[in-house]
Amino acid sequence: MSTSKRLRGRGRVRLPIAVASTMGAILVPSILMVAWELGHSHPRDPGIEPVAHAAVRAEPPPGAVEASNARISLGKRIFFDPALSEPPGTSCASCHDPAHGFAGNNGSTLGVARGSRPGELALRNTPSVLYLRFVRPFHLHWEEDAPLVDAFGGFFWDGRTDSLVDLLKQPLLNPNEMNGGTPEQVVAKVRKADYAEPLRAQFSTALDDGENVLRAMGEAVAAYLTSPEMSPFSSKYDEVLRGHATFSADEARGLALFKDSAKGGCAGCHKLNDTIPNPERSLFTDYGYDGVAPPRNQKLPRNADPTYFDKGLCQRPDTHFHTDSDEFCGAFRTPSLRNVALRPAFMHNGVFSKLRDAVAFYATRATTPKRWYPSGVVFDDVPEKYREYVNVDSAPYNRHPGEAPALDDREIDAVVAFLETLTDAR
Ligand code: HEC
Ligand code: HEC
Repeated sequence: MSTSKRLRGRGRVRLPIAVASTMGAILVPSILMVAWELGHSHPRDPGIEPVAHAAVRAEPPPGAVEASNARISLGKRIFFDPALSEPPGTSCASCHDPAHGFAGNNGSTLGVARGSRPGELALRNTPSVLYLRFVRPFHLHWEEDAPLVDAFGGFFWDGRTDSLVDLLKQPLLNPNEMNGGTPEQVVAKVRKADYAEPLRAQFSTALDDGENVLRAMGEAVAAYLTSPEMSPFSSKYDEVLRGHATFSADEARGLALFKDSAKGGCAGCHKLNDTIPNPERSLFTDYGYDGVAPPRNQKLPRNADPTYFDKGLCQRPDTHFHTDSDEFCGAFRTPSLRNVALRPAFMHNGVFSKLRDAVAFYATRATTPKRWYPSGVVFDDVPEKYREYVNVDSAPYNRHPGEAPALDDREIDAVVAFLETLTDAR
């Protein structure tokens, strides 16, 4: 594979080691993490970079036990239950819609999700909840020969949560999403649900009070989200890996462009390994953070306020890893591109509604910035003081205005054709 470390110039999400070493809190966990990775990594495959081993694991997180089928199907019933929202009608699946690869925005065309209450909008575009069993806890990683530290993992666009069990209450109780009320209101509803008995059978104290019900529901939904059903690996790409299908000429060309650091350079962050038949090595992300600087989404009502910005990683409330420092502002977690063609909106702010536009943006962000930032303010959705941290070093952004774009129109089409092979069979 032609991707190299050179390619991983992640401008913004790195701290100089000199600074990092003064932050004991950073180096200790990252060294532990490296030790853990060495103990658990697979034998090196030809052609894959060590960093891919470090960043993407092929096994579920430590401590994850294979959940029972009863627990998984209970979690699935909760995930699809529209009675849990206020007013009723919005389930987890309204936003994480199977028809959109478990992403989607509940019918909103603005780029961010519509909540259960009329006119209420979530803050961000809904990510897919497929393949979550491969997301590791948030951590910093330092490669021996690299001058800087990289951030990886955690759930949400800003990695602010490590536990799927604890995560459930955020969308459930968030007034902009399901508006489920207090934990006590949730337990009252769940007592009336047709899965009340199975829930009590699995978790004896589940219906005692609000805290217990949220915990039990979280456990059940986490079991569902990390079940094999939610990591299907049934796309054409996977079939090609297994030797059961072949790419069309366009798709094969798209894959080559995707990997080529002189062209798309996409695989530098959206990691894959197409030389071995194990699809778990092709998650199309390393869960790393980067400042891609998609254009400001003018359709979002809150963007009418010119002082409003979603700063991503540096807004993470837990500052244990010093993620509140400026370098992390404007960085968001790299999404997996599996099932990307099914999404109605792209990027954390949902600014693109066509996959082709997202790819064209990468190809020409550096060479024709006016096309993406018509006001002339480059990186207009990142506060001015943090624009210097936007990644301008990695392919495909490492070009200058007026130069040839990283991909021409036909090449963009080929990359899109390749991305369409990442859609799982239904
Ligand atoms: C109103 C739309 C909406 C509903 C309903 C909703 N979500 Fe989400 N979900 C989102 C958005 C938006 C994000 C990204 C939030 C962020 O990054 O700050 C998200 C993120 C997630 C993530 C993190 C995924 C990742 O890749 O890190 C998980 C897991 C998740 N939601 C599970 C659920 C569960 C379980 C429910 C039901 C209890 C639910 N969601 C209901 C919109 C929704
Ligand atoms: C340096 C790392 C990096 C490289 C290189 C990179 N990406 Fe990304 N990609 C990201 C990050 C980070 C995001 C999320 C950015 C955001 O929302 O602010 C993203 C988002 C996307 C999305 C939106 C997905 C969604 O669910 O919203 C698409 C599509 C995408 N990338 C395709 C590509 C393609 C095609 C290439 C090559 C032409 C590429 N990327 C190169 C890091 C990268």
